[in-house]
Amino acid sequence: MSNYDVPFGVGVDFETGVMDNPDRVITRRASDMRGYYANPEALEALIASGDPIHYMVYEKAIPERQGHLLFCMSVLQPGRVGNEYFLTKGHYHTEVDTAETYLCVGGRGYLLMKTEDGQWAAEKMEKGRMVYAPPLWAHRSINTGSEPLISFCVYPAHAGHNYGDIQTQGFPRRIMQGEPEPRLVK
Ligand SMILES: [Fe+2]
Repeated sequence: MSNYDVPFGVGVDFETGVMDNPDRVITRRASDMRGYYANPEALEALIASGDPIHYMVYEKAIPERQGHLLFCMSVLQPGRVGNEYFLTKGHYHTEVDTAETYLCVGGRGYLLMKTEDGQWAAEKMEKGRMVYAPPLWAHRSINTGSEPLISFCVYPAHAGHNYGDIQTQGFPRRIMQGEPEPRLVK
């Protein structure tokens, strides 16, 4: 038995994305994102100028076994590396037959998804929109707005994280600054 084999509740602030009393807080700064952007020189300049936070994830330590659900609050800051909007690393799930759902509660951007066989999709994220990442689809958040992109996510607790081919191959599209709409480029 863990604390989480009995019912509980937790507060989350939709304005800031912060969860009350999280068990884990994952913080990714610019320096944690080497290899993920099209313009490494721009990333190094950003690191040298204060190494800003890119995103934070707040979680409870739900047991990572089948039957439980893991959930998180994710807060991705606005900004660009060169012309490319701030993004999360993205991942597949180790257990491939597990999905994930994201509910955007603030900000705007995309959930960019891909499969190992080359399919891709970019679903818009904005306050009140839910996006579903089916089994086998790697997923990454991208903030194209001027406010933090805040989302609540839920997935099977045994799913695990697998960065797979993302570090070497990235995603089939990048999302770059554009007017009036962001540009999706190969
Ligand atoms: Fe996931």
